[in-house]
Amino acid sequence: MNLTNLSKTDIGAALRAALQKGLIRPEDTALIFYDLNCLKSRLDYLCACFPPDTLHGLAIKANPLAKILSFTREISPSLGVEAASVGEVTLAFNAGFSPDRIVFDSPVKTIADLEFALKTGIHLNIDNLDELERVNKLLASPSVLPPHRQYHSTIGLRINPQVGMGTILESSVAGNYSKFGVPIKYRKKELEHAFLTYPWLTGVHLHVGSQGCAMELLVEGIGVLYDFICELNPKRLAAGFQPISIFDIGGGLPISYNSDTIAPSMEDYVSLIRQRAPSFFNPHQLTNLPSYQLTNSFRLITEFGRWVFTNPGWTVSRVEYVKHDPDVNTAMLHVGADLFLRECLNPQDWQHEYTVFDCNGKQKEGLDILPWNLAGPLCFSGDIIAKGVKLPKVEEGDWLVIHDTGGYTFSMWSRFNSRQIPGIIGYRNTEFEILKKRETLEELATFWK
Ligand SMILES: Cc1ncc(COP(=O)(O)O)c(C=O)c1O
Repeated sequence: MNLTNLSKTDIGAALRAALQKGLIRPEDTALIFYDLNCLKSRLDYLCACFPPDTLHGLAIKANPLAKILSFTREISPSLGVEAASVGEVTLAFNAGFSPDRIVFDSPVKTIADLEFALKTGIHLNIDNLDELERVNKLLASPSVLPPHRQYHSTIGLRINPQVGMGTILESSVAGNYSKFGVPIKYRKKELEHAFLTYPWLTGVHLHVGSQGCAMELLVEGIGVLYDFICELNPKRLAAGFQPISIFDIGGGLPISYNSDTIAPSMEDYVSLIRQRAPSFFNPHQLTNLPSYQLTNSFRLITEFGRWVFTNPGWTVSRVEYVKHDPDVNTAMLHVGADLFLRECLNPQDWQHEYTVFDCNGKQKEGLDILPWNLAGPLCFSGDIIAKGVKLPKVEEGDWLVIHDTGGYTFSMWSRFNSRQIPGIIGYRNTEFEILKKRETLEELATFWK
């Protein structure tokens, strides 16, 4: 099972095979590649780490490619998707996911979004107490919930466990302040009231952050909500309600962007959760009720994005020009802040590994005397994806590979300067398939119409 970063050797072999097969055309100034065997290994391992009836709602925001979504759907019925907008829900339906495999989160849902979610029967995570009231009103409307339906929405509420921030402020969402969810320290009474008022509110949801959050912080977030529902479930039962039985732990397990650093393993994460929240793995304890008294069984949901998608993907750009300054060289590339927004804006937090190959795909060795800046093609000076990198001598026509780019890169594509989004190619060993064609100039023009 390949769960580490892809090696330079393997990437080199795929690059050379793609060049030899003519898959990289002159107009393909940059391309994104996806190792589908590696992706499948990660998905199999994820499913094996958690109880079999867990729903893994893979975060579409990390990778919205239609073919990748269909690929994941076919691997296991445990694999679903987490959608952060009605647009992402649409992508999920288009990829063939049934409603019970779709989790809908968004902090800003309109009444129309909520009505749509309830009518389709997907799992809905409410973000705040006002949204809760909107949902309550909608549920009272017979047009929203006709009785003979195959799928009925299950509904959870996002709670901010307020366990603290990770090392990356922009992607940490469980501090005392967060724009997401209902803060448990400040709103515990209101939360209790909500769960003891609405029998249909059977789920809790949290997400502590994305990258930069230690595994222990994620587990502590889960622990805070776990304690809350253990305290609340006896009261719900006394009120004649079903217990809270859906626990969505969000995503956020960090990955390594550097082959020398080992990321926390999913297995270790699950075993820490097992210690902190044992009833996840023995649901009867959550309610102190025998299972025959539970009409809705306990369901664990996860929402990993980065952990699943990032390591199997890499990006290659042709080096169009090189520039030489007294103390630094610059490689002028065909991808910049359009694909690597976070790397350009917050370089201290987001760094990749880079490998240089010559025009035939042979890996270059050694180190140049001066360091290299890797500059993109956009018209602002901050469009530099990395500064002062130690690399071999880079020359015009070389291929520069940016490692670990399968998540949160093309999904964040920027239209600034109207450049064509590169093609995306999947491969298994040396068998290739086009996942997405390079955007044409006509398609690009259509975007602005
Ligand atoms: C609500 C929610 N769930 C899941 C994720 C996925 O996080 P990650 O890709 O770090 O696993 C995010 C990312 O921002 C998120 O906001």
